[in-house]
Amino acid sequence: MIETTPDTLARADVRHLIHPQTPLREHIEQGPVRIFVRGEGAELVDIEGRRYIDGLACLWNVNVGHGRRELAEAAAAQMETLAYSTSFAGFSHIPGIQLAEKLAQIAPGDLGAIHFTSGGSDANDSAFKFVRMYWKLVGQPRRTKIISRFGGYHGVTLAATAATGMPPFWELFGPMPPDFTHIPALDTDALEAKIVEEGPETVAAFIAEPVQGAGGVVVPPADYFPKVRQICDRYGVLFIADEVICGFGRTGRLFGVQHWDIVPDLMVVAKGITSGYIPLAAVIISERRYQEIVANIGARTLLHGFTYNAHPTACAVALRNIRIIEEEGLVERSAVMGKILLDELGTFRGHEFVGDVRGLGLMAAIQLFQDPATRKPFPPELGAARKVQRAALDRGLLCRALGGDVLAMAPPLVISEAQVRRAVEIVKESMDLVTPELRAVVQHA
Ligand SMILES: Cc1ncc(COP(=O)(O)O)c(C=O)c1O
Repeated sequence: MIETTPDTLARADVRHLIHPQTPLREHIEQGPVRIFVRGEGAELVDIEGRRYIDGLACLWNVNVGHGRRELAEAAAAQMETLAYSTSFAGFSHIPGIQLAEKLAQIAPGDLGAIHFTSGGSDANDSAFKFVRMYWKLVGQPRRTKIISRFGGYHGVTLAATAATGMPPFWELFGPMPPDFTHIPALDTDALEAKIVEEGPETVAAFIAEPVQGAGGVVVPPADYFPKVRQICDRYGVLFIADEVICGFGRTGRLFGVQHWDIVPDLMVVAKGITSGYIPLAAVIISERRYQEIVANIGARTLLHGFTYNAHPTACAVALRNIRIIEEEGLVERSAVMGKILLDELGTFRGHEFVGDVRGLGLMAAIQLFQDPATRKPFPPELGAARKVQRAALDRGLLCRALGGDVLAMAPPLVISEAQVRRAVEIVKESMDLVTPELRAVVQHA
């Protein structure tokens, strides 16, 4: 039997486990950052028995918190009955039908035709294929281009990478597929100009996150998405809302777009749909657009689909997870706790290196600057926010440095007020620890 001491596990990790989104050389030289063994509510426990507040709900996804017996029981019950069956070729199963019906009930407007996948990337990839198929079927085959935003993160399949507006993600994986183009994040004039420049008859869709997550928790002004909706309508461009992070209560509404009362043509959800207990995602398409697809596809088969589309066990877990969100009022709780989190983080305003405090619901961030008055950034190689993140980890808080200067928090929606306050206290202690080092950089600059 293989020994499972922390040392043997760490050695096996660096030898055999390829870690995503990780500086590989540093990881192999220094070993795993932490090996987690247990989760309870908004906390994680590592193999040495240390407890941490899970300030990012792992990957912005563990919305109902860790250690939920109900979800384990829902998975076990489904696995014992029918762990897997396919939805290919018109076959169906009860949890898939029930979850599709439930999503149609709770999604905005007429979003009500659901194609399930396993994760956010393959769901976005599927959304791009659906919009291209739609335009071909309704007689506008030249509409193939996808416009997205710089700072937008849409995943890592090849098409999702191309839509992701972060050039470092493209560097080692090029060439990127054609017909993906990007605009600045909060500029509606740039969206209209780009559609006109490309030729509206060639633009299939615009994709955006309601609140940009990995791009730095960028909260739009109130008129941004209503204007986006108008511009897309003016030029016949479909609007895809990437709700992979924002969906299922993260921003204090069930879905992010509900803050601005707009209805996208397609909505992509993942993460919070199962709170990360099992992989599942979905593309939710407007029923009107879906009917047009059906009316025009003739005798052809939809030649798209994954083995694990509408995985019965994942669908059963998602149904139970959504029931927890509803029964425990976690969307409302996210709004209330989010306000406390933002107020607490607000005490950083005026700090010599903090230029911005922002958030919506339980999705918040502070942004560090060398000079907040002029918004002069720290040198990127310094990794100012990463230093704070590391100090916080040593003090029992998981949070996330984004793009070097942003420190983000998005804890489970079940987090208590005391845990929110303690988390921000840890960020303060960590900032105090790192500030002299940052000052030294500024003095040398
Ligand atoms: C907004 C957004 N879209 C898509 C994705 C990709 O999802 P996944 O990692 O499940 O493929 C992510 C992942 O973080 C995301 O934040």
